[in-house]
Amino acid sequence: MGPVTGTQPTGTMILRRKREGSHWEQMYANQDVETMPWYHAGLDPDFAAALERYGIDGGEALDLCTGPGTQAMALAERGFSVTGTDIAAAAVEKACIRARAAGVEVTFQQNDILASRLEGSFDVVFDRGCFHLFPAGKRREYVPAVARLIKSGGYLLIKCFSYLETRPEGPYRIAPNEVESLFGSGFEILAIRHTTFGGHNEKPPPKALFCVLRKH
Ligand SMILES: C[S@@+](CC[C@H](N)C(=O)[O-])C[C@H]1O[C@@H](n2cnc3c(N)ncnc32)[C@H](O)[C@@H]1O
Repeated sequence: MGPVTGTQPTGTMILRRKREGSHWEQMYANQDVETMPWYHAGLDPDFAAALERYGIDGGEALDLCTGPGTQAMALAERGFSVTGTDIAAAAVEKACIRARAAGVEVTFQQNDILASRLEGSFDVVFDRGCFHLFPAGKRREYVPAVARLIKSGGYLLIKCFSYLETRPEGPYRIAPNEVESLFGSGFEILAIRHTTFGGHNEKPPPKALFCVLRKH
């Protein structure tokens, strides 16, 4: 797969893999994205605050599990050159249509982050709700897979379910010491903060960790 430049026409979509009958594929094919529990219309406030705090105000951005594409679009509106990827081709297709309708330029591309063929080198990578989907062994594979996509000095922002969340359903739970041990050698850990997933309809909102990592 060739480089992703973010300079293609509005809503350009590159589908590299044929559709799979996966859980995610089925969900995005059959459900209105606005009814999905993680749907958040604007930029997640934790991401917005981190951009402000660390002075990240432009460059090449990757939204690595873009889903409905809301975060990718919000970043593009802030002046980032954005690539949004997702394992589900149906998600990418819907995000592309939504971006085009909104007149926002984002390059969308189907991609599995654990078998990634992306060649970009990004200033900042956003992960809102992907890292915590993987079991422990796959979380270890995630680290080099994502690290190779980030420029030296670039940022990785991860929002994931916290070990403090007690509801039985949902993704894996992540503790700060796991983040430190997995990312500590390749990244400077700037912050691991307790927060919640505000886009969810569930009350109370799920407890989350928000992690700001800077690649050595
Ligand atoms: C909880 S949703 C979050 C979507 C989006 N980031 C948001 O906040 O609206 C998780 C997303 O991860 C995607 N996903 C799951 N496994 C993935 C993988 N291996 N690579 C890339 N995306 C993946 C799913 O299709 C889904 O869209």
